[in-house]
Amino acid sequence: MHVRLADLAATETFAAYLGRHLRKGDLVALHGDLGVGKTALARQIIRKLGDRPDEEVASPTFNLVLVYAFPQITIWHFDLYRIGAPEEIWELGLEDALAEGIALVEWSERMGSLLPVDRIDIALKYDGTGRIAEVCGLGACADRVATWRWPA
Ligand SMILES: Nc1ncnc2c1ncn2[C@@H]1O[C@H](COP(=O)(O)OP(=O)(O)OP(=O)(O)O)[C@@H](O)[C@H]1O
Ligand SMILES: [Mg+2]
Repeated sequence: MHVRLADLAATETFAAYLGRHLRKGDLVALHGDLGVGKTALARQIIRKLGDRPDEEVASPTFNLVLVYAFPQITIWHFDLYRIGAPEEIWELGLEDALAEGIALVEWSERMGSLLPVDRIDIALKYDGTGRIAEVCGLGACADRVATWRWPA
């Protein structure tokens, strides 16, 4: 699925769509260059899933993970840019995230071969002043994501 995000308002609309389709146990890997908008998209997904439009969502650059426990769902927002070794992902709680909630992961490449195959990849690219998102389901997520349509 190919999604054009002309501005931050479009990112918010797309996040609302994702919020309706994500489920407990999902891992969303957010790919793309520095500053392309991975945190901006994660922030809106977290606000939609929690139904909290004003939720403060900082970048987990230094913490590596920030957890949002909402009544409906718990979301683990990872940024692995500064992870020392792939194995550190276990200490950060990836297993708990996948068992109990949803994991949104920036710089998942840093996990190397520990990155789960069953996942939803969202690759962001620059497109003029906006962005393009390419969405792809892998492993157990493939069939489900193949049914997603945009524009919704
Ligand atoms: N759809 C969009 N259209 C225009 N600008 C956008 C869009 N999405 C995000 N941005 C802008 O891109 C900038 C960078 O965003 P963000 O911090 O989310 O990037 P990032 O990919 O998380 O970076 P990092 O790799 O450092 O974690 C922000 O200023 C944000 O407003
Ligand atoms: Mg970021």
